[in-house]
Amino acid sequence: MGLPSDFSRHVKSAADIVRIIGEQVRLKKSGNNYLGLCPFHQEKTPSFSVHSARQFYYCFGCGAKGDVFQFVIATERLSFPEAVRRVAQLAGIPVPQEVPYGGASSPEARLRAALHEVHQRALEFYRKQLQSSEASPLREIIRNRGVTAETVEEFGLGFAPGKGSSLASFLLKEGFPEKVLEESGLLLRRDSGGFRDRFRNRWIFPIAAENGKVVAFAGRAIGQEQPKYLNSPETPLYSKSHLLYNLFRAREAIRNSDSAVLVEGYMDAIAVHQAGVQNVVASCGTSLTQRQVQKLSRYGREVVVNYDPDLAGKTATDRSVSILLEEEMSVRILRLEGNMDPDQFIQKKGGEAYRAHLAEAEPFFRYLAARVLETHGKSTPEAKVAGLNFVLPFVAKVPNKLIRAELVADIAQKIDVSPGIVWDTFREAAVARRESFQLPRAATRIPSAEAMLIRLLLDSEESRQEVVPVLRQKDLLSEFEAGTIVSALVGMIEGGSAPDMASLADRLEEAQQRLLAEIVFDREARPVNIDEVSTYILALERKRVQRERVSLQHRIQEAQKQSDGQLAMELLREQQHIDRRLAELLQ
Ligand code: GTP
Ligand code: MN
Repeated sequence: MGLPSDFSRHVKSAADIVRIIGEQVRLKKSGNNYLGLCPFHQEKTPSFSVHSARQFYYCFGCGAKGDVFQFVIATERLSFPEAVRRVAQLAGIPVPQEVPYGGASSPEARLRAALHEVHQRALEFYRKQLQSSEASPLREIIRNRGVTAETVEEFGLGFAPGKGSSLASFLLKEGFPEKVLEESGLLLRRDSGGFRDRFRNRWIFPIAAENGKVVAFAGRAIGQEQPKYLNSPETPLYSKSHLLYNLFRAREAIRNSDSAVLVEGYMDAIAVHQAGVQNVVASCGTSLTQRQVQKLSRYGREVVVNYDPDLAGKTATDRSVSILLEEEMSVRILRLEGNMDPDQFIQKKGGEAYRAHLAEAEPFFRYLAARVLETHGKSTPEAKVAGLNFVLPFVAKVPNKLIRAELVADIAQKIDVSPGIVWDTFREAAVARRESFQLPRAATRIPSAEAMLIRLLLDSEESRQEVVPVLRQKDLLSEFEAGTIVSALVGMIEGGSAPDMASLADRLEEAQQRLLAEIVFDREARPVNIDEVSTYILALERKRVQRERVSLQHRIQEAQKQSDGQLAMELLREQQHIDRRLAELLQ
């Protein structure tokens, strides 16, 4: 489907790139720019810069760059027309009537659309099967676990029949191509040909992406069969380490409370949700990943970790705390009495009791100090050292000095050593850690007048009208150190197109793209002011005259060496002339 051709331009100028990228990347304002952790490569200090006025992003770490469309194309794997529509939708711009035409979307996008459709149909199938007589034992289990009919409905819980190919027959009848069915991961190819179902005789939990679309399923054994849980494999729609179960239902509540509850299992998330705590997400067996935390951090700053109280749960808690701290989340830990996971606790004590405990969840450092004692004790010096070694890596990850100090004091008290010793050990073990958001280096490589002129040309139509002819007439284009950038820029302006950062960057090689980004994102730059144009141009002229003077002096020296008195005289006269011009320019 196509859109009117000027629609994308309209969308681009109306959409706020900072807001749209801000949905996916936590951005902090830094001067006129915004800065965050790059979504295109792994990094710990932010080098991903977004410029609101220039509608452009650039990563000083990996060189990723572009405008708002290129961003959604890269992060959501869309084609250009899809990206335009997506951005329009995000910016609340009505999309005009579409003009149909064939083959616009990429094969990848078509496959993804078909896979979404397969999952939607499979969801309906599993849900319907939950009403079958075969599913009556499961319905009993669900009732006994206290899951209400509304919750079953809301979470789309279902049943996969025991017969080897019920879903396969259903989907084949729906007319999906075999290739699509195979890619969905829901069916497995039989050696003898045909398909069989991945999930057989299992309780089905649909897994949705952040937009609410189902992209995978988990199937829990009904009895004691192994494995207890079976998951969809990784597919073009589903990446286990990126996704958090229930995030799409929870995100509004997380935003509102600035806090999320993190549990381990599907049933835990469902039970906590049913207990009226809507900001709950589950990591589902995998240890929490940096990507998952980054997703979470877009909605809220605090996470209450409520993992199972068993050993695996404790280890998972330790690991999650470490990752959460690294991502600068504020962390609390909820430990439920009586060795119960959240679901069991709620079944036994009720939602209200759970909410009360949640409100009292302890800051993570109290938890850590307790863990040190629990795992190492403090009876011998060796135990104390082991305890310190366990806890110091966590301390090193705490970005805030005050919290770090409090943590150290707490630990020292718990294991009975002086805080001074904890500090000493800590310093020895300390991992160098930057305190706060680092800003990209100023564009020191380029003279400031030149950088100002480039920024002016980018920002102001008025200055383009004024400056370009002057640069041409005085033949100053070759004076720029960022000559390639300026030529490309002037080329675009003279070609009649308004210079747009993304297209300008597309015309440059990587080193020049970086230089351009340094100029554009320079945090020390004063605001551009068209009244100062003549000053910048003068600076360029001066530079040229000075350059001419230097080369003249070389020639004079050369002439004197050759004892060519006449030439030397001529050149000296020329030099006087240049000096006069320089004096004028310096006035
Ligand atoms: P119930 O026993 O029904 O309450 O489920 P649970 O969610 O409490 O299960 P458990 O505490 O054993 O596991 C927690 C989470 O780890 C589950 O929800 C799953 O996401 C994951 N998990 C547990 N067992 C398996 C398994 O055998 N395979 C996989 N892939 N994941 C599992
Ligand atoms: Mn459980």
